[in-house]
Amino acid sequence: MNTPADQEKKTVKTEAPLLQIHGLKRSYRTETVSVDALRGIDIEIRRGEFVAIMGSSGSGKSTLMNILGCLDRPTEGEFLLDGQLVSSMSRDQLAKVRNQTIGFVFQNFHLLPRTTALENVELPLLYSPDKPSWKELHNRAKEALDIVGLADRASHTPSELSGGQQQRVAIARALVTRPSILLADEPTGNLDSRTSLEIVDLFQQLNRDGLTILMVTHETDIARFARRMIMMRDGLIRSDRHIPPRDAAEALANWQDHDEDEDENHDDFESPVEGR
Ligand SMILES: Nc1ncnc2c1ncn2[C@@H]1O[C@H](COP(=O)(O)OP(=O)(O)O)[C@@H](O)[C@H]1O
Ligand SMILES: [Mg+2]
Repeated sequence: MNTPADQEKKTVKTEAPLLQIHGLKRSYRTETVSVDALRGIDIEIRRGEFVAIMGSSGSGKSTLMNILGCLDRPTEGEFLLDGQLVSSMSRDQLAKVRNQTIGFVFQNFHLLPRTTALENVELPLLYSPDKPSWKELHNRAKEALDIVGLADRASHTPSELSGGQQQRVAIARALVTRPSILLADEPTGNLDSRTSLEIVDLFQQLNRDGLTILMVTHETDIARFARRMIMMRDGLIRSDRHIPPRDAAEALANWQDHDEDEDENHDDFESPVEGR
């Protein structure tokens, strides 16, 4: 018989990982130096996962994220996104896949100054291959701002928003194209501990709603709210393991202000990865 449960089993069984990379390498070559930033990486990420990538500065995290985000190409190796071979796509195809599948969030928010939150969020839709009507564009941007809890700040410019709010706008901008995967490179790197926890709480909510998330961080306190932790070192994966669930909302509810004083300032350096 073909009950809905059977069908579900079948789909789960046959569904390819959302993201697959094999033997991925990336070297930077200039006249004087050559850096092997990635030296052979294999990762498979399934739909619905929440993965943290850790590793000290220079270990290749951003290089990896930029390739996964279709912002850069590997020197060698295979990269499949949703079963499609990205490494052999043309520039145009790549731009399309990027726009439709991937949301990217950066440490420095990368918002346009003197441009309202709403307009910042609308931008990716303006560049979308099938650009929606102005009304729809507007509504979807509003909806995305609502998801990140900033509906009431739509007409504010970045300078009128706190760091945490700016990052929320950037997350709304990443979500507005309804991507399958959110890639975040040090999304809390410029935020204080409590605000960082609020961002990771938002990530957990989005993940519960089905969004696949890949987040780079060098802070164990942030990474532990993911469900899987990948450690990188010198362009290679050092470990890759599932970790027990932890609720960021609960951590926020139990938050005590004095914790803030004990935190180190992470702005200027990366702390070594635990257990190194
Ligand atoms: N555009 C580039 N040109 C040359 N070297 C680079 C470039 N980008 C990164 N690198 C080098 O590649 C290595 C990995 O960098 P990166 O991926 O930024 O690491 P992480 O994000 O983990 O700090 C470092 O040694 C870095 O100096
Ligand atoms: Mg980096």
